[in-house]
Amino acid sequence: MDKATNIPSGFYESFWEDTIYQQAYAFDSAVRDRFPAIKKVWGEMVLPNRVLDFGSGNGVLSYWMHCNGFGTSILGVDVSNSGVNNARKTFSGNGLHFETIDYLSNTTDREQFDVVVSSHVLEHVPNPETTLSQLRKLSDWFVFEVPIEICLWQNISHALRRTHRQQNDLGHVNFWTTKSFRAFLEENGFLIVRDYHYASAPYSPYNTLLKRTAERLLLAGIGLTLYSRLMATHYIVLARLR
Ligand SMILES: C[S@@+](CC[C@H](N)C(=O)[O-])C[C@H]1O[C@@H](n2cnc3c(N)ncnc32)[C@H](O)[C@@H]1O
Repeated sequence: MDKATNIPSGFYESFWEDTIYQQAYAFDSAVRDRFPAIKKVWGEMVLPNRVLDFGSGNGVLSYWMHCNGFGTSILGVDVSNSGVNNARKTFSGNGLHFETIDYLSNTTDREQFDVVVSSHVLEHVPNPETTLSQLRKLSDWFVFEVPIEICLWQNISHALRRTHRQQNDLGHVNFWTTKSFRAFLEENGFLIVRDYHYASAPYSPYNTLLKRTAERLLLAGIGLTLYSRLMATHYIVLARLR
């Protein structure tokens, strides 16, 4: 157990053990919202060739970016050996390459990558400032997506269970609002070029029909800004080094 974060040792190894479920889930996320969100903030800029997918998990998002021409050469890195092994087994080759995170310690060349993409990873990292300072050396362009979980529903459910925010099944140790995430990036030397805030849960087939319907009605009724005060949402930014 990591005392600072409450994350059990081996957490990220077992995280990717259930390959079939995790692949289906990751495919749904990549196709339905993670890659469309990346495209949305990337806009009309020339598509990148060399992409670092930081926290690539089982490799599905790397693969999907590659299939869509976002990266002719993609390196995925992750702390999880099981994630990296699954990614290698399923997607390695033809411009896709997966390594454990130590690989980056030998990689210091600025602008080695056209863009660093890190989707739903910074909320897992115990020292995100250190991670950002490592990533800063590797490119001029960055795409970061995180969940926005400072909201009434999450606050109530933790209060009722009498648990700290860091006690969750997902390994999340950092929590931001859209505003505090922007400030966090700016304090760490990034310029935010574009952003996009959206709701994912109301459209996820991994939620029950009842939950999806109720959340869609709520979203349609009160709009994203108010919805995000109540329920978790996603926030993605395109950033550049300052
Ligand atoms: C929710 S998954 C996201 C995977 C993938 N980026 C996606 O969008 O499908 C979070 C990933 O972050 C990885 N992770 C956790 N802590 C990390 C760290 N300190 N450095 C790099 N990756 C980490 C986990 O192993 C896991 O693969």
